Amino acid sequence: MSELLNQIQKDRVPIHVAIIMDGNGRWAKKRGLDRIEGHKAGVESVRNAVKASVECGVQYLTLYAFSIENWKRPKNEVDALMELLVLAIEQEAPELMKNNIRLNAIGNISSLPEKCQTSLLQSLRTTKNNTQLVLTLALSYSSKWEIVNACKSIAQKVKEGRLTIEDINEEIFQQHLATSQMPDPELIIRTSGELRMSNFLLWQAAYAELYFTPLYWPDFTKEEFYKAIIDFQKRERRFGKTSEQIQKEINK
Ligand code: FPP
Repeated sequence: MSELLNQIQKDRVPIHVAIIMDGNGRWAKKRGLDRIEGHKAGVESVRNAVKASVECGVQYLTLYAFSIENWKRPKNEVDALMELLVLAIEQEAPELMKNNIRLNAIGNISSLPEKCQTSLLQSLRTTKNNTQLVLTLALSYSSKWEIVNACKSIAQKVKEGRLTIEDINEEIFQQHLATSQMPDPELIIRTSGELRMSNFLLWQAAYAELYFTPLYWPDFTKEEFYKAIIDFQKRERRFGKTSEQIQKEINK
């Protein structure tokens, strides 16, 4: 077994890890390859992150696979990414079943090409009773879009008299987000050396630990995932309290 995996304290693994997979294009450019080759190599890192999550006991893994802003990329890259997505979803379906992984998706799914929606919905249906890990793909997703949508559905309920303004609080708001069925991420990883959130899970990231690595996404191996978990376990999560209060709670 991996030396790093052994170092992970199994009772303090983040329940939900989210990843901004960045640097596929630069990885390809460095090798004189087409950008899409970087995305293809990135699929292998997706597989590794899923396997590593299962090995560590992470229960929710959320991957930023395509942002609303990504639609602005050249058409050939967008088309190739969508094709890659369909291929990956179809090819990985048996593995998801074998490993008891439930596929989930957040984002403006109806804006995806027909073929992509069909294979996605098929996989969501087939894996819906799996319980080992919830693998969420953020597709045509942006946090501001999600927050505006939540506001709209809350406003609609107020208009119809199903909610009052006084009812609106953080919990109600949370229930109207695409992530209403999952806990907030405790750890958010971003590859490629960029230090930004890029419109990803902004509400949900309120108390997340952030982990940045200079590695491009295709170079992010299982060992690198373990390193991020070990780093997370070294941090003291205070949620606004003092260090002394936290230590007292631990020693109780
Ligand atoms: C960021 O690299 C990556 C993406 C926008 C797409 C991620 C997609 C995959 C890894 C492939 C398919 C995914 C799944 C879930 C099967 P970038 O293109 O922004 O890289 P750059 O910043 O170096 O240009």
